[in-house]
Order: sequence, then C-alpha cells, then structure tokens
Amino acid sequence: MNSTQARHTQLVEEIRRHDHAYYVLAQPAISDREYDRLYHELLDLEKACPQLATPDSPTQRVSGRPLKEFNSVPHRQPMLSLDNTYSQEELREFVNRVQRLLPGENLEWIVEPKIDGLAVNLRYERGVFTGGATRGDGTTGDDITANLKTIRSIPTRLQSRTGVPPGPAGGDRRDASPALLEVRGEVYLSKAGFEKLNAERKAAGEEEFANPRNAAAGSLKQLDPRIVAKRPLDVVLYGLGHVEGAAQAPEQHDQMLAWLKALGFRTPERIWHCRSADELVAAIEELDRVRRSLPYETDGAVIKLNSFAQREAAGFTSKAPRWAIAYKYAAEQAETRLKAITVQVGRTGALTPVAELEPVFLAGSTISRATLHNEDYIRQKDIRLGDMVTIEKAGEVIPAVVDVVLPKRTGKEESFRFPTTCPECGSKVARAPGLDEGDEGVVWRCLNPDCPAQVRGRLEHWCARGAMDIEGGGEVLARQLVQSGLVRDVADLYSLKLAEVAGLERMGEKSARNFLEGVAASKQRDLWRLLFGLGILHVGAGVAKALGRGFATLDDVLNSGVDQLTECEDVGEVIAQSVVQWQGDSRNQKLIERLRKAGLNFNSQLYQPQAKAGPLASKTFVLTGTLPNLKREEAAAKIEAAGGKVSGSVSKKTDYVVAGTEAG
Ligand code: IVH
Repeated sequence: MNSTQARHTQLVEEIRRHDHAYYVLAQPAISDREYDRLYHELLDLEKACPQLATPDSPTQRVSGRPLKEFNSVPHRQPMLSLDNTYSQEELREFVNRVQRLLPGENLEWIVEPKIDGLAVNLRYERGVFTGGATRGDGTTGDDITANLKTIRSIPTRLQSRTGVPPGPAGGDRRDASPALLEVRGEVYLSKAGFEKLNAERKAAGEEEFANPRNAAAGSLKQLDPRIVAKRPLDVVLYGLGHVEGAAQAPEQHDQMLAWLKALGFRTPERIWHCRSADELVAAIEELDRVRRSLPYETDGAVIKLNSFAQREAAGFTSKAPRWAIAYKYAAEQAETRLKAITVQVGRTGALTPVAELEPVFLAGSTISRATLHNEDYIRQKDIRLGDMVTIEKAGEVIPAVVDVVLPKRTGKEESFRFPTTCPECGSKVARAPGLDEGDEGVVWRCLNPDCPAQVRGRLEHWCARGAMDIEGGGEVLARQLVQSGLVRDVADLYSLKLAEVAGLERMGEKSARNFLEGVAASKQRDLWRLLFGLGILHVGAGVAKALGRGFATLDDVLNSGVDQLTECEDVGEVIAQSVVQWQGDSRNQKLIERLRKAGLNFNSQLYQPQAKAGPLASKTFVLTGTLPNLKREEAAAKIEAAGGKVSGSVSKKTDYVVAGTEAG
C-alpha cells in the first residue's frame, strides 16, 4: 500500500467513525469545521486518484445522476405487515391467542415505538452496503439504493465486523462479517425536518406534505438522489431479513437489537420488556406519555415476542406474523360545527378551501380554521356546510377536517359549490397540473397574473425576512398598497413616494419613512435574496443560494438553459425548467428590466467560480510544438475535459509543458 492509499484508508475510517458518532449516537466528537477539513482532504485525494473513490467511500453518498425509474427487486424473505389493535380488550385477546398457540410457555414481550415512516430492507454483503428497497407489495419492492445512501445514519460499511452478537468476539475480523445480512427498519423524516421542509415548500410555492410519512415516502420516491440528499431523512432498524453466514445468530429480539447497534445501526431509543397483558398496557401507556419527545412521529406501539424460537412456533398468516401486533393510539380529534368554507388564493394562484369552524380546543390550542385540502376532498367526503365534522391534529401537523359526523346530520346542511371563477378577481380558474411530482392537477389555480390576491402574496413574499427583508411589508401593508392601486408588482415599490405611503390608512409618516428606507436598502441585497423573492416555482431559499453560488449575475442565471442550470449543484431538471419557463414569460422579462432601472443589485456575492473536477483539476498546461498524434486543439480539449487549464505561455502558474517537435 502506498502512502496515498494509506492516508485514504485512514481518512475513510476516521470519517466513518465521526458519521456514526454524529448521526447514530448523536454524540459528535469533533467540530463541524474539523469534520469538513477531513472530508475535503478525502475529496482532494480522490480527485487526484479517482480509483480510490470506491462506492462505499463517504464521498460517494450522493450520486450525481437522476434515475429514469426504479428497478423492482424481489425480497428474499417477504416483508410482512402487522395487524392492528385499537383497545386494551383487543390487546388482551391477542395475548391470549398467542398463549394458546404456545401452551405452557413463558412469554416475554417487547414493546417498541411504531415509527410513522416507510419500511425498508437494507442489504449488506460481507459487511458492505450493496442495496436497499422499499416494502412495495411485500414480495417485490423498489430498488432505492441511491436514495438510501444519502442517509448518513445508514452505514455504508458495518462497523464492528465480528459478525456475532456482543460477547467474546471470535475469528478473524474481516472474515467474520456475515456473507449476507438484511436488516429492516423504518425511514422517517424527523418532526423538525418535516416542519422545515414544509416551510421551504410553502416559500417555494409548492404544495405542503400532509404528514411526515407522506414527506418521507415522497422523498424516497424522488428519482434524483441529489434532492433526496437535501431531505433530513433518518432511519431506525428493528428487524432482520435474510441472513447467511453469520458466525452466530441472535436468539432474541433484544440481543438482535444489541447486535445491530454494535454493527453501527440506529435502533429504537427505548424498548420495554413485559411479561403479562397488564405490563403491556402499562408500557403502552408510558410510551404514549413519552412519544411526543421522540424525534419522529409515532402512531402506535409495536408488541412482539422476544424469543425467536417462540416466533417460529407461532408462525404467520399470509399477511402478518401471529407473534406481533400494532397498538394504534387514537389521533387527537375533536368534533365541531363547520360554519362556512372560504377559498383562499395564494401567491401562485392556488385556490385552497378552508373550513371556518366553531372554535374548539384540540391538543393544546383553540382551533377555528382547518384545511379541506382541495375540491376533490370535499366531494369524496361529502362535506356540507353546517355539518358536524371531526377535525384531527396529528402531532405537529396543521389541523384538517377528516370526516363528517353523519348521525348528527339534520338535513338542513348545504352542499358546497366550489367557485368556478377566482373568488378574488372573478377570473377564469383551471386545474392545470403542477410541475410537482404527484401534482396531477387537483388544485384549481386562478389564471389572472394580476389577481390582487396573487399580487399581494408576491409582494408579501418579496418583503419577507428570508427574501428581500423589508421591514413593515407584511400582510396589512401589502393589502393596502395593492388595494390603493399604488403597487401592481414588486418593481412599483421602488418608485413609491413618501406622501403616497404616508397617506394610506393607519400609516403615520414615521412608519412610512421606515418602510421606504427598508425598500431603498433592499436594492443592495445579494442576488440569492432577489432570486428567492421573485417567487419562481421551486426556487426556495436553498435553491436560490445554490444559483447564487453557481452564477455571477442575475443575467447569467436567466440567460442559461436547462443544461447549464442543472450543472449547478442542487439544481435538478424540474427546478431548471421552472426557471427557464419563468424567464420565457415577457411579463417577467419586463419586471426584471424595471428592477434593473430601479438600481437593484444583480450580482452574487456567493459566486464561487468552480475549479473543474477531474484528474487534472487545477493543473495548468502549456502546449508547444507539433504533437505526434494529436492536433494542439485536440490535446487542449482533452486536458480541459479532464479538468485542467491550457495557457498560451509559460509562467509561474504553469504545471506542465507538453513539448512536441520543433517546440519554441
Ligand atoms: S415490526 C413482520 N417494528 O409498521 C412485520 N414495524 O403497520 C415486522 N413499523 O410494515 C414489523 N415501527 O413499516 C415493526 N418498531 C417497529 C415498527 C414497525 C414501524 C411499521 C413497519 C410495518 C408497519 C406495519
């Protein structure tokens, strides 16, 4: 092994250790800065020696290419589901049923949180992560390996390679990894991650996810791993699939969890051991009390036999094991009267029906409005004005109307007719499919770009703290500015006069002056804020910053085609198309020209001209003379394709001179 290789191995092991400490144990051992230094050293080594960048290197977590579709993979052992119970009685019946299957045996149960995510199977061959799949129909799933690799708590290589449950390690370290190990668990989006993702989607004009499970599923089904890498996904492992060639197999669930933990996996933070139905009830109640403090959403408890021998004896039905069951907690619900349905028009023209409710207390707060999602939802549930409805708040999620309390119908309720024109401006509406995956057009949108609701929304968004950060430009002022006709688009802000603003209702001269000072100051904001502020579909703050890093000016961004835009890190096809489409609209072109005239900064402070990647990255060549088998231009193209630069004359910066015959 040469010294580069040795350093590479050392770095890989060190980074893996830190990833485990940070992502699995949540106990970082070094600062982010030190970690970045190690990571960049590794990147540089692999740039210089690309053959070192093997698929299990920490640098290879995000592959650059989106997939066309997922391949199907058959499961070597079916991925079953669980039967559900909803009451203590049902739970006691379950315990009795299993006891009848195993007469005279002492049963020990394990209780675990039921994580509200997506079941996955991870495959390790000789200790190396080689593939992962969704549950699919239980027999065949989707191969989502590239997406799973982006999840840092999934080790690309097993940590302790002894291949046996904790205890005296036996045999040679390397040969002891099981020939094949399949582990199973749940991929989820943390509660905090879910909130953040939804806030970003809202800001980018995208539809929000209804709950963390949908968000996790939507993320894992993305074909572009670079997008998945941005989603704060995590995993908890709680089971085994097919295992071959393990030195010793665990005999109980608790041993198996300890083994998985020793191999470097995240396992449930807390489990309960129970020996009777009473103990199970107590554990389930305790979990109900603590589950709010868990980082993931839980919708129940999973109860499973600890002993694997007993599991085998109890067996399976066609769908689910007989030795395990899910206990579902009731979602927090309340009943109240639906007084009216209002339809809100958002910045992108989307019409969202909102339930106006008789105020009711639910899960810690008073609720008087709840979402009704879209027209189809109201129709499918046959929700009528005046109905008693059930509303639900699952965890952190926005309250929603989930059902009608039919026995309480009096016959006086009225069907709701979804507006056929925009409730704000009376213009035509259409169910145009959105650009989003899965948005097949359930959303009605107002087609009038001058719709006051849209103008207001765009104005408010432009002024928001995360965008151009203009103090005072909130909902109230935006409404007044649009209503009074002073502002029709964001460029109008820059020609507002003090007297005009001060003349608005409830607007003193001092506030008007402050607001206009904020408007003037916003001219100097960095490009990414302006890009975000424009409200281009899919261009949230993160994407806007990425564009700011990849392009020097607004004109460079807007004059680029899809290919150039997607070269920018974090910019996928959907985003690029959205930018190109936005720029193609003549109204938007006019808006940009007016902003230019108003003197706004179009330059990016974040711009980092990227040294090209490749084996010759950051090397400068000078070509001279006649080369034996290439024209000089051909040689130059090859050097550039490999990341190098070609210069016309020798200087201090020259790394190599390629001298042909008759060189000068
Ligand atoms: S054990 C043979 N344990 O719940 C089935 N499942 O409703 C073994 N789930 O498909 C599943 N947390 O996706 C098990 N601690 C946990 C779980 C869990 C969540 C999911 C899993 C399963 C679904 C069944």
